Amino acid sequence: MRAAAIAQPNIALIKYWGKRDVDRNLPAVGSISITLRELFTEMHVQLDAGLPHDVLAVNGTPDTALLPRLSACLDRVMGSERSRARIDSRCNFPIAAGLASSASAFAALTVAAAAAANKSPEPAALASLAGRASGSAARSLYSGFVELENTADDIAVRTLRDPGEWPLAVVVAITASGPKSVGSTRAMELSRQTSPFYSSWIEQQPHDLGVARDAIMRRDFEKLAAVSEHNCLKMHSIMWASRPPVVYWNSATMGCLQTIRDLQAQGVGVFFTMDAGPQVKAVCLPEYAQQVRGALAATDGVIELMESGLGDAARLVDLT
Ligand code: DP6
Repeated sequence: MRAAAIAQPNIALIKYWGKRDVDRNLPAVGSISITLRELFTEMHVQLDAGLPHDVLAVNGTPDTALLPRLSACLDRVMGSERSRARIDSRCNFPIAAGLASSASAFAALTVAAAAAANKSPEPAALASLAGRASGSAARSLYSGFVELENTADDIAVRTLRDPGEWPLAVVVAITASGPKSVGSTRAMELSRQTSPFYSSWIEQQPHDLGVARDAIMRRDFEKLAAVSEHNCLKMHSIMWASRPPVVYWNSATMGCLQTIRDLQAQGVGVFFTMDAGPQVKAVCLPEYAQQVRGALAATDGVIELMESGLGDAARLVDLT
């Protein structure tokens, strides 16, 4: 009747952008991500037959805007005949600002909801349920370097490498703190319907996935850096060429890219990636993390920095 779970957000290196089935929220392309360690969402779910409807609090504040998506996720995990639930979400990083807050939220909610309903689905079934709520959430059910593949009728997710096997660091430069201008679900549909680059994106993705998978297996940082930056810029090019255009960047986003380019020119092992928001994620070899942090802190417009290593899969939290 009551359970809690914790999940870390993940950052895609080879991106998911576009859906092949909107109703079932199935992605149009496979993706590869890294699960983070220091950022987290913790979800408490308590079933209460006396409640007239679900209730949600985010960091202690009642929230009705996010509730419908969370309720739909509970219905999928527990069945629509379930009791109403009290959901308490705690998150230690900005929500809806392009930091994959939906990934950690829905991964944690899926795990907590299954336990509250006394169900113990296989990880593959949990990943599939989390993916229905938010495509990127399926990856937060796994640790370290994670690949999400499209199968004939669903998705299949697995860890390619555990976090300890190649402990990269991530420095996140926050360049704006408000929620993003357009949600990623809507932006993806705009891209699919209007961007002239969308079809080549779909065609080229298997190649990028293959290069990144190989780089991860060989721990080849240069190769992973090149394909990840290319894949990220392709995704943003599709958005820019959509009608209306979807532009998440601000001037500080561009400044961070220049800072990372300058570091690369000095031989620093670092590369950038960005998602549906203006924040810049600098992925680096751990020995360069401090230098990367210092350079990004000195970049105009950077409001805050967060640093993380690679982390574990979503899991239950002991309530006793
Ligand atoms: C740019 O998982 O937020 O972060 O399935 O519509 O909820 P929905 O989308 P979401 O999209 C993530 C897009 C991305 C790239 C990625 O994480 O792969």
